[in-house]
Amino acid sequence: MADLTSFFRPNSVAVVGASKTPGKISNAIMRNIISSGYQGAIYPVNPRESEIEGLACYPSVGAIPDSVDMAVMVVPASKVVAAARECGEKGVKTLTVITAGFKEIGKEGLELEKKLTEICEEFNMRMLGPNCVGVMDTHTPINASFTAAAPVKGEIAFLSQSGAILLAILDWSATAGLGYSKVVSLGNKANLSEIDFIEEAANDPYTKVILCYLEDIVDGARFLKVAGEAAKKKPIIVLKSGVSQAGAQAASSHTGALAGSDLAYDTAFEQCGIIRATTMTELFDLAIAFTKSPIPAGDRVAIVTNSGGPGIIATDNVEDMGLKMARFDKSTLDEFRTNLPKEANIYNPVDVLGDARTDRYQYALNKVLDDPNVDSVLVLMCPTAVTEPVETSRSIVEARDAHPDKPVFAAYMGGPLLAEGAGILAENGIPCFTFPEPAILCINGLNKYKRYLDTVDSKQARDQLEVDQKTVKAIFYDVTRERRLNLLSSEASAVAEAYGIPVAPIVLTTTADEAVAAANEMGYPVVLKVASPKILHKSDVGGVKVGINSPEEVQKAYLMIMESVHRYLPKVVVHGIEVQKMMPKGTELIIGMTKDVQFGPLVAFGLGGIHVNLLKDVSFRLASSLNDEKVVGAMLSETKAYTLLKGYRGEAPRDMAAVVDVVKRAARLVTDFPEITEMDINPVFAYENGVSALDIKITIS
Ligand code: COA
Repeated sequence: MADLTSFFRPNSVAVVGASKTPGKISNAIMRNIISSGYQGAIYPVNPRESEIEGLACYPSVGAIPDSVDMAVMVVPASKVVAAARECGEKGVKTLTVITAGFKEIGKEGLELEKKLTEICEEFNMRMLGPNCVGVMDTHTPINASFTAAAPVKGEIAFLSQSGAILLAILDWSATAGLGYSKVVSLGNKANLSEIDFIEEAANDPYTKVILCYLEDIVDGARFLKVAGEAAKKKPIIVLKSGVSQAGAQAASSHTGALAGSDLAYDTAFEQCGIIRATTMTELFDLAIAFTKSPIPAGDRVAIVTNSGGPGIIATDNVEDMGLKMARFDKSTLDEFRTNLPKEANIYNPVDVLGDARTDRYQYALNKVLDDPNVDSVLVLMCPTAVTEPVETSRSIVEARDAHPDKPVFAAYMGGPLLAEGAGILAENGIPCFTFPEPAILCINGLNKYKRYLDTVDSKQARDQLEVDQKTVKAIFYDVTRERRLNLLSSEASAVAEAYGIPVAPIVLTTTADEAVAAANEMGYPVVLKVASPKILHKSDVGGVKVGINSPEEVQKAYLMIMESVHRYLPKVVVHGIEVQKMMPKGTELIIGMTKDVQFGPLVAFGLGGIHVNLLKDVSFRLASSLNDEKVVGAMLSETKAYTLLKGYRGEAPRDMAAVVDVVKRAARLVTDFPEITEMDINPVFAYENGVSALDIKITIS
């Protein structure tokens, strides 16, 4: 782990390019460092001045009499490299390069950025930026940036790849009451990236929540590892903009076509426990929720409302999000029956009615918080003539204080009439929104995080699978020697079989007699298919014959296929004819793999057969996460195929354990062999006992 202490708690800071001129960035940075209350030594560096902002100014970094922990660079781009070298020679530990004009302007800037990075490596300096706003730590305190608004002290570490967003957020936060432990403008991420700062923030005692605005993640594998570990310690919430390169990759497989452009990020974030926000509003709503609320024990939500309509809206939203409406304990219902007006709805959502004053809200809220079947609570209020928003808010705070392990959220549906009450909730750390949806989104975010924490332990117990890598290597070697990228079905089946995936027996034959022998060996009925990696749609050229029941039929079919293929495609190389055992029909599944540039192989599972692209019933996971039964189980349960497998409309359930095993083995195969660029196993037939992979397509690089 990189030591980033000198960015956040430096003993001394040099500002290279410090200026006396008000209005210049290099002057603003000087002022910000001083006004933040920074207690360490500050050394302005400028050859034209002897004093800046009352501090002795030095002509160069080398001329500073003491050691320098961090240098903030604000000289023009053309001068940065020389100044950085001087810092290296001086023994400066970290550089924060504000200057723009690097990678972001094109080739020339990229060259300059490379030189700058090389100097950092040569002198073992850590660099933030270039092209950034700077760095802040409210607990040190230090504000080494040119922000107009200083961050308020708090518990959020905010990392932003956009300087402009960071500047806007800091100003807005003052009104929203958000506080920060540290704020980092990542800039071009030439040396240090979000990964390093996430790792640092996870270990920072002043940080409770890590918040990121990101536009790209360059080192997917390291991100997954570091963020996954960091998320075990603290929640990480990310707003990621921009389109992933996965979508830009032309996809020839079904799986590739089904994976959306942003899917890899979604899947990766889920795998390492990151809560993904899709808008700025969500990012900060979630930030408030995670800083103020405990993590709930489960997903059962109770709603207390003084009006029916909002209760229904909220209930719909709870269910849409995949959360559960809590079913109250019998004792709770008995109490409600006795103590609430008979018109009140005592089931969830509890409707305390329009004439509810503080006492009724207070009673109902405390009761649902006491209920062991409730994990979090949403209080809804609409202003009626008798509502007591201020007193009720105080009673909500008391109820929350008496139940500190359960999150309480509120939606005060109104305006000025409820503003004071809403203010009391906010001041006391109860997130209060105008409408229920964002509150439920927050409860859902807390739950996602809880689910991640729950899976962390089980991830330690990785399943061991017996696989035969040697056979796969040998097959790939032979295929590449023939300068092919697509495996024949028989080769792909042998690969799958080596990884313990049950396949329908298939043999490549080059004469009709060989085909008969193969069919006799495996037993009838059989299917004959032309074997040529160049022929994608075999049926279209008469290349497939099904339901063959005797040696005579095999002879006949062999010759018919050869003749038809030669007629349609006289120039195409044909390797022979594959004889495959015809398997009884089972539930048709697809298991496939496509690749993401940043995060590697993504495995798909869903309904298979010829309608996959129409049905689009698939769920995805990063292959690296699929060595855990729970993760595979969760992946399967997201699809409609899962409902079929469980036994739909009286049908016998399919062998779920065998399906889970195949998914795990497919994931292991594509992880062990990065040369596999695409894979489709479609269909996989699932039976009451066991499964069988029928058609396997593998492309290698
Ligand atoms: N060492 C120390 N000081 C030096 C120097 C050196 N080698 N060379 C020049 N200086 C001094 C200059 O004399 C000047 O001081 P002065 O005001 O007393 O004359 C000061 O450093 C700044 O140099 P200047 O040429 O005036 O540059 P500038 O202030 O106009 O612009 C940047 C410098 C870094 C702000 C500008 O190049 C830049 O990158 N702006 C964009 C910043 C940005 O948007 N970042 C990304 C945010 S997301």
